[in-house]
Amino acid sequence: MALRLHAKSLLVLREQCTKTFATTSAAKTSWWPHVEMGPPDAILGVTEAFKRDTNPNKMNLGVGAYRDDEGKPFVLSSVRKAESIIAASNVDHEYLGITGLPDLTKASAKLAFGDDSEVVSSGRNVTVQGISGTGSLCIGANYLSKFFPGNKTVYLPKPSWGNHTPIFKHAGLDVQGYRYYDKETCGFDAAGAMEDISKIPEKSIIILHACAHNPTGVDPKPEQWKEMGKLIKERQLFPFFDMAYQGFASGDLAKDAWALRHFLDEGHTVALAQSYAKNMGLYGQRVGAFSLVCADAEEAKRCESQLKIIIRPMYSNPPAYGARIASTILNTPELNAEWKKELELMSGRIITMRDHLVANLTKEGSTRDWSHITDQIGMFCFTGLKPDQVEKITKDFSVYLTKDGRISVAGISSKNNAYLAHAMHEVTK
Ligand SMILES: Cc1ncc(COP(=O)(O)O)c(C=O)c1O
Repeated sequence: MALRLHAKSLLVLREQCTKTFATTSAAKTSWWPHVEMGPPDAILGVTEAFKRDTNPNKMNLGVGAYRDDEGKPFVLSSVRKAESIIAASNVDHEYLGITGLPDLTKASAKLAFGDDSEVVSSGRNVTVQGISGTGSLCIGANYLSKFFPGNKTVYLPKPSWGNHTPIFKHAGLDVQGYRYYDKETCGFDAAGAMEDISKIPEKSIIILHACAHNPTGVDPKPEQWKEMGKLIKERQLFPFFDMAYQGFASGDLAKDAWALRHFLDEGHTVALAQSYAKNMGLYGQRVGAFSLVCADAEEAKRCESQLKIIIRPMYSNPPAYGARIASTILNTPELNAEWKKELELMSGRIITMRDHLVANLTKEGSTRDWSHITDQIGMFCFTGLKPDQVEKITKDFSVYLTKDGRISVAGISSKNNAYLAHAMHEVTK
């Protein structure tokens, strides 16, 4: 009897399933009719539109990747040489450990904290390899979500890099903001930032762009960093530094790490995400590192064990090739010296493009104050163009940028700088 009932209910179930999934025998099963079409990625959408444009003068200033003065992707010669060394060394393709290539993680910690850093010499840091800056931030976000003992809310500068909010939200953290950018001056809203930070609930998490803030290109001055550091300590906030542009902003690795090192000198214990995408041009190789600075070496060991537990189910262990390139550059003195020169070259070209853009705008007859273009630093410049001006510059001049008026200065060359200045003047006069 029971068996017969069971067989009957199975039959009914099968009938229901057939009705739901297939009206004819050829129809495919649909599990996802409720899934809505998501919006396209803001930056990749700009590139798509750029590709479709047939204007020979078109410019793509949306994507944040370095271009040489011919507008071509740039492979560093230190990278090419590191690749030759790796090819000649006959390495195998075994798995790396969960925390990545030790030569890379050790060198990354020194690069960030300084060669003679007390943090490194006392073993207070745990540094693990991450999948570039994004993956390193994800490791940190998941760690904080699981173990942060305070208020699991992350405070981001307004605005911040577009991926920060989803990264922290996906990890289950709440996301709020503090004032950062002043639209009037196209500069740092120091008063607003200090006021907001002083009101952040104690024991929350605060995200700080170590240098070359994305998307604004606006960094606090050393005195302002000092004031922020004091406030952050008073409020007992946990600083998480995102350092995606070390060496790429000023051309000087130590200068670009100044804020981070200042916080450490002041006794903050911090988290840090590093990326080698921009400063080594290793965009697609996805090389980065996540560090946690702890109270002592014993604490660092315990935290490391938990980071491994977080990483293992995510991607098991990180990719080796890019890590070997970065590690070879960091650990080979001649290549290291060559890399530093290339950092000066890349950041120098960007700074020159900023200077020329302002000079060309003046030549065009623009009387607006464009000094923020040269005051800002790094790959990006918040031009101050309004959404309707962005639309017009794209429509009339085929200059592509994100709606917020951000341009990637790395996408400008000596050849098209004057064209851009002309277009900017035309839409803003
Ligand atoms: C502020 C910031 N953080 C992190 C990243 C991470 O980049 P990637 O994952 O390519 O290293 C970027 C890249 O644009 C960035 O601007």
